[in-house]
Amino acid sequence: MAPVLSVEDLSVSMTDRDGKLVPVLENLSFSVDRGRTIALVGESGCGKSMTALAIMRLLPEGFVVTSGRILLEGEDVLTARNQRMRALRGDTVSMVFQEPMTALNPLYTVGDQIAEALYHHRNLSRREANEQAVEFLKAVQIPAAEHRAKTYPHQMSGGMRQRVMIAMAIACKPKLLIADEPTTALDVTVQAQIFDLLAKLQEETETAIVLITHDLGAVAELADDIAVLYAGRCIETGPSQEIAARPRHPYTRGLLACMPHLAIGQPKPSVWVDLGEIPGMVPGLGNRGPDCAFLARCSYASEVCRSQPQPPLGAIDTGHAVSCWLAREIAA
Ligand SMILES: Nc1ncnc2c1ncn2[C@@H]1O[C@H](COP(=O)(O)OP(=O)(O)OP(=O)(O)O)[C@@H](O)[C@H]1O
Ligand SMILES: [Mg+2]
Repeated sequence: MAPVLSVEDLSVSMTDRDGKLVPVLENLSFSVDRGRTIALVGESGCGKSMTALAIMRLLPEGFVVTSGRILLEGEDVLTARNQRMRALRGDTVSMVFQEPMTALNPLYTVGDQIAEALYHHRNLSRREANEQAVEFLKAVQIPAAEHRAKTYPHQMSGGMRQRVMIAMAIACKPKLLIADEPTTALDVTVQAQIFDLLAKLQEETETAIVLITHDLGAVAELADDIAVLYAGRCIETGPSQEIAARPRHPYTRGLLACMPHLAIGQPKPSVWVDLGEIPGMVPGLGNRGPDCAFLARCSYASEVCRSQPQPPLGAIDTGHAVSCWLAREIAA
């Protein structure tokens, strides 16, 4: 069976003021099977949201896909007609956006917004759609759902709005759910509840999930696989347990070292454990050379790194691939 989502060699560029194409994502590949979760992780600006938006075919103005394919159950998203794409969004794939307010319409009650999606995608009558909207609000554990269905987004707390977004995203039972930082700006207990909710929904519906988050703790619990992005490229990918236990790329090791609670009971990466964060910054768009984008920040960097171009993403173990000239030495 084809994976629910397959991203193959995807590259995205942005047109700058002079009309020049600047790479945003380069040669990204990953896939997600039914009932599985892949986490996209990496610092701010690494290209996580752009990956999500490319899959939804909702890239902002000025961004273009320059190579690759995106397949949803084998169907090419990039060549689909607009009308087909609108049907796919909602039916096959839906997304929880990083900013709930950008996705919710302030002029409609939350119940009406969910009902509208059900009416269009699920062939329900208005009345059935309204009833089911309330059921979905209950499913995401919104108290007094009948009453809340009649309120407007601005009358709700951030956590409630996030739940409404999730209710809307799952209402049409998509095969693929993309959750872009579904818990940013929420307090820790609500974060945990939302992650639990996603796990429960997945168990019930076998939805494939692309989870975008900075929270490697949540990743280790929820995700089957991880793709670590750095400056628009995948620099390490594999089963999440394997990566949490044996990170190979210095960047992944740095990210994990920023998450002390994750390292409990596991061999700690030897560097940066005490730093709390990775020194330096992700190179901005247009400032990426042909060599390893992490070079300037890497405490392992050696002669080979300085003299060679960006290392390819090479398999190091079953399903575990790393883009680092020193991956084998670091493991040893
Ligand atoms: N609307 C936009 N116009 C121009 N550049 C943008 C726009 N949105 C994002 N970018 C740039 O594209 C690159 C990838 O951004 P993206 O939003 O995918 O990062 P991200 O990994 O989602 O970061 P974050 O964790 O902060 O959400 C970044 O360099 C960012 O500055
Ligand atoms: Mg983002």
